[in-house]
Formats: sequence, structure tokens, C-alpha cells
Amino acid sequence: MVPKMKFHTDMINSLGAAGWAIDDDGSQVAVVALAEGQVIGSGVADGYRPDVFQAHAQMAGSKTAGFNIAFDPDRLRPGAPTLVKVMASAGGRQIQIGEDYVILPPASAPDAMPGSAGLASSYPKAIDALVRRAYPDANGSPEQFAEAVRRTLSLSDLRPLPAVSDYARFLTACWAHFRFVEQFFPHTNKLTENRSSKDFFCKVNSAEEMITIAHHLYVLKSYGISGAFAEFGCFKGFSSSMLSYACNLLGIEMHIYDSFEGLPESSSGYYRVGEFCGSLDEVKANVRQFGVIDGVKFHPGFFAESLATSPPPPLMTLWMDVDLYSSAQDVMAIASSIAPEGAIFSHECVPEAFQGPVPASVRSGPDEVVPAILGHFDEVKSEPAGRFVAGYTGAFWRRDQGIPVLGPQDIISSIEILSR
Ligand SMILES: C[S@@+](CC[C@H](N)C(=O)[O-])C[C@H]1O[C@@H](n2cnc3c(N)ncnc32)[C@H](O)[C@@H]1O
Repeated sequence: MVPKMKFHTDMINSLGAAGWAIDDDGSQVAVVALAEGQVIGSGVADGYRPDVFQAHAQMAGSKTAGFNIAFDPDRLRPGAPTLVKVMASAGGRQIQIGEDYVILPPASAPDAMPGSAGLASSYPKAIDALVRRAYPDANGSPEQFAEAVRRTLSLSDLRPLPAVSDYARFLTACWAHFRFVEQFFPHTNKLTENRSSKDFFCKVNSAEEMITIAHHLYVLKSYGISGAFAEFGCFKGFSSSMLSYACNLLGIEMHIYDSFEGLPESSSGYYRVGEFCGSLDEVKANVRQFGVIDGVKFHPGFFAESLATSPPPPLMTLWMDVDLYSSAQDVMAIASSIAPEGAIFSHECVPEAFQGPVPASVRSGPDEVVPAILGHFDEVKSEPAGRFVAGYTGAFWRRDQGIPVLGPQDIISSIEILSR
């Protein structure tokens, strides 16, 4: 039988590689690291590894199977990610035991890169700059850029940079929290026993929709956009519980507007007055239990009145889930207080509304909110851009000044990479 090796490469970065390797026939294992065919570091697997001994006590040499080799930084191309392969050899045999991209990290994230200055990206400013520096050719399409972001976020060399660690901390914390809210928030509406009524269930949107809003807030903040965040239509406080957590992490004041008596009268043949009711006490209790209530301001009343008596301060962005054209119209009365870079997020959107070059209403009537949103863009004489997000959520922003909203798939794939 041909002897085999057991091995594990624990880490590879621009400083070196560490791990362990044992040869079945007891020969000492030599380890070498190659970048672009050149040797950039070498050593032998002879370091003390009690953990390996515990797992492979029957194998000769398992107690001293560790390697920790340093790389010669002069052999790495500055600024560019380089593929490093780690090879182990023993008894005349050589195998690859690991590979990863490494990069010599800058002392801090570059602030703005030539060519990107002034252009707002869907990613945080410092992440955008890091990606453009590591992958200067990744600008061909949004898909290509998203792939370059994923590669950049996988580079363990860059993780200690505040730009990367802060982004990772925010996204992974929000994602874990949003999933917690999805799982533990009350399922059903205690005000109705009718299982077939449309407000029987209390979770009418998803973590995917909410992470997109949270990410956009983070991006706006990274570009120095200031202001508060407002939610219109909270029902029992499900989306409020997620978004209040994100606002708290970002130090953003959150304003919640709702009648706390359910939907107003309307000419809708589908929605009925009083549906989707959560009392102020019920919502506050839920936000306290499932979100972060500090920094949240509640504005009870029908929008037409509450916005007149208690208008929001300048906003970074807003989220509305208001079911009715008339309610969306009322909210749009204050939409010009949104920063020109910020988006309007709304429920009651379908993918078909975003299929053309400009978002368009695919239906009209008392249950359609998109015509009211597009009316706002007409009023401020700004061409809208937009995208479908997930579930029934869409996003709209000013084509000329708005920061394009990144979709949930790209955000979640970054979270997966940052959690590894
Ligand atoms: C579908 S629910 C919102 C769901 C919520 N985002 C969630 O995560 O569960 C619609 C909400 O909009 C509120 N609403 C709709 N039109 C309103 C208006 N004109 N004034 C005040 N509240 C309104 C209702 O009271 C209700 O709470």
C-alpha cells in the first residue's frame, strides 16, 4: 500500500502558513509555499501539536506534526491578491495541502481610489475602495464587481482592517438578530381568531427584505449621509424589531408612524378598515422584547394628521408597508425630506414593476402604492431608478443622485463569507 499523509492547513495569509502534516510511514514532512511558481517560504512539520496527537495518537510523529512557515513579503506582488499553494513532501512524494489568496494589507483601508472618487457605490465607501484597489479590473458589470467584493472579503489579510471588521460585525450581528426575530416573534394576531383573515399572521415580511434596508443605511452612513430613519406601518412591530436593532447599531434615530388602530377607511375592495391593528402598547412591548426600543420615537395617528403635527426630521431613507394608495400618498407628502442619496423602500411591490429601464406601475387602484411613489419622483422632477428586493419589497431612488440599493443575494453571500 502506498503510504499517505494526513494534514490540515489552519491558515494562510501574507505573513505565512500554519497547520500540521503527518506521513503514514513516519518520514519527516517538508512544507513549501509557492506563489506564481516561486518559493516564498519553507519549513518542516516538527512543531508541538498536542491536539493532533490526541486525534492521531497511533501515528508516529503526530505529537510534533505542526508547521508554521513565514513568507518573504518581497516575493508577493504589492496591492494584488496572489494565489499561494502549500505543498508537503515526504518519502519522495509531494502533495498540495492547502491554497488561498493572500494580499499585503494596506495600513488602513484606502479612503477613495482614483477613478472612484465621488461615485457612490452600492457597497460601503471603504469596502468599495478596497475592492477597486485589489481588483482594479472588476468594473465591467455589477456581477463582476460583486464577485470581486466576495473575493476581497475572503482575504483573511484584510479582516483586521476597521473597514472590513466593522462591516462584518454589523452585517453578521444584524443577520443573526433578524433570523432570531423571524423565529421568536409571535406568530399569530391575538386580536383575531379567524385563521383565514389576512392579518392572522404577524410576520408579513422577511429577514431578506430587512437586511437590504439595514445594509442601505450602513452604506449611506459610510458616505457621510446623515439623518434619521422612518418606518410607516408597523402592525405588531415585526419589521420594527429588526430595523430598530440595525438603527441602534448605527446610532440612527428611528421614527415609527402608525395609527395603532389598523388600516384607515379606503375605497379598497380587498383591505378593510381596522385590519393589521397592533396597539401602541403591544408594539412597544414587542420592540422592547425583540428589537431595541432606545432611540425609537412613536408617532401614533393616521399619517395625514401625525405627519402634519409631528413631521419627521431629515431622513436618510424610509420604509413603508402601508397597503393603500391613499396611505402611500400621505407618506409621500414628506418624501422630499429624504436625502437625495437615500432610497424609498416599500412593500406591495412586484418584480414586474422593475423590469423596464425605469420602474413602472403595473396596476393602479386603491391597493397600489407604486403610483404614489412614482408621483413623488415626478413632483421632485427626478427620474427614478429602482430594483425589486425580495418578498413584496421594492426600492426606488433618484437616478442622478441616489445610491443604488444592493440586493439581498449579494448581501447574504457577503455575510456567508464573512462568517467563515
Ligand atoms: C401590513 S401592516 C405593516 C406590517 C409591518 N411592516 C410588519 O412588519 O408587520 C400595515 C400597517 O400600516 C398602517 N397604516 C396603513 N395606512 C395608515 C395610515 N393612513 N395611517 C396610519 N397607519 C396606517 C396600519 O395600521 C398597519 O399597521
